[in-house]
Amino acid sequence: IPAEVPGPNRTQNRLAGPSTGSGTHTTRTFVNMPDTDPSLAANREWADGIRSRMVASELGNETVAANTLSTAAEVDERIATAVTAGEAWRALGAAGRAEILHRAGDVLEARRGELLEVMGSEAGKVIEQGDSEVSEAIDFAHYYAESAVKLADVDGATMQPVGLTVVTPPWNFPVAIPAGSALSALATGSPVIIKPARQARRSGAVMVEALWEAGVPRDVLQYVQLDGRELGTQLVSDPAVGRVILTGGYETAELFRSFRPDLPLLAETSGKNAIIVTPSADIDLAAKDVAYSAFGHAGQKCSAASLVVLVGSVAKSERFRRQLLDAVRSYEVGQPSDETTRIGPLIGPAEGKLLGALTELHAGQSWMLKPEKLDEDGQLWRPGIREGVVRGSEFHRVEYFGPVLGIMTAPTLAEAIDIVNDIDYGLTSGIHSLDEDEIQQWLASVEAGNAYVNRGITGAIVQRQPFGGWKKAAVGAGSKAGGPNYLVGLSEWVDAPTST
Ligand code: ALA
Repeated sequence: IPAEVPGPNRTQNRLAGPSTGSGTHTTRTFVNMPDTDPSLAANREWADGIRSRMVASELGNETVAANTLSTAAEVDERIATAVTAGEAWRALGAAGRAEILHRAGDVLEARRGELLEVMGSEAGKVIEQGDSEVSEAIDFAHYYAESAVKLADVDGATMQPVGLTVVTPPWNFPVAIPAGSALSALATGSPVIIKPARQARRSGAVMVEALWEAGVPRDVLQYVQLDGRELGTQLVSDPAVGRVILTGGYETAELFRSFRPDLPLLAETSGKNAIIVTPSADIDLAAKDVAYSAFGHAGQKCSAASLVVLVGSVAKSERFRRQLLDAVRSYEVGQPSDETTRIGPLIGPAEGKLLGALTELHAGQSWMLKPEKLDEDGQLWRPGIREGVVRGSEFHRVEYFGPVLGIMTAPTLAEAIDIVNDIDYGLTSGIHSLDEDEIQQWLASVEAGNAYVNRGITGAIVQRQPFGGWKKAAVGAGSKAGGPNYLVGLSEWVDAPTST
């Protein structure tokens, strides 16, 4: 991977606004980083260059050998180094750390192309999907930097780091999620060890290198690949660990909790998310948003739409179905190195419950769009949509994490909400309606951490849509990532010394 790739052409300045100096810290006004604009010819050329460097065969197979720890003693040593290095990091103060974190945001931007290339190669991310992920990582850097400065002293209390934070991210957002988790802890003054997901080690490694390049010391932010479950258990359950930030399946959160009863765990877990479409909706917009929410990144997002609930007359709407089919059929399935690809490969062959959902219909169901396997391995699938999902059935409640959507119907909005709430997880949820009363009715009762109105339900934006779950979608989490209170939950608060 070339270290230097030309950057995209950007027409907006994310850090507009005057600086208001305070001590050594210069406040930077937070503005979301825009994604790369594909309507500019220079950016399309830039993206072509990235795609030409992607290597499809690397998918899921790459290792970062230099960062692989294989013995228990090595894990102990890394923990000890991080804890020691954390002292100087804490002493730097929120303002000193913020300077470095802002620089981290800038380096991530400078390495955007490299991040996209590696995410495409090893994690199957098409540029469009990876691009917003990089923007999100950059947003986290700038947002948490300022957030920590603001929170350093609040109402006579001082924010203190909880100490060594272990971050265990998933493979589906291999840059933004480890970046956000690590940056939040770093902003509060805690040292961090990231243990990346096996399938996407290189993406996280490039992100970590960017943070090191910006000035985060290597001992303060460590990146370790552990072979085997034993070492992972050792890392997570070490008494020196002040916080574990997990993003992954609910079962993993349960497993982590079984390691150590008092484990300080902050986990964002699974989702089984639905979009409700009422008769007052803009049907064309609803169909487009459902398609993208269900099948972006091949449905491999905790936030993805897995169900659409059609209310009243929409249940029989030919127009909704035609528009949905058109939208989904327009998505080319292939490798991210191919310009036309909108849906990349699954991270591994479809198996277990996902394979069942892609291949077997249950009683009373029919395919509105039959999924189609395009390769021998079973990683490339044209998406599927099934009609006739019944309340209480497996499809209603189980997360599949892949390119398959189920259609449910309900006579009234109240019943549709009931169907949505009758799911163990409460991560994202959506409504398409142009009726204010309906929207208010839904907002008042839907059980979801992220409730989106007339918009897709993936792609939360830092500050604008802080991201977090409810019910079984969150374990030990009280506040949402990318929101004003996230760092509060990552810190300890002590009374500030009173001056006499
Ligand atoms: N934060 C990611 C999204 O909103 C998971 O899609």
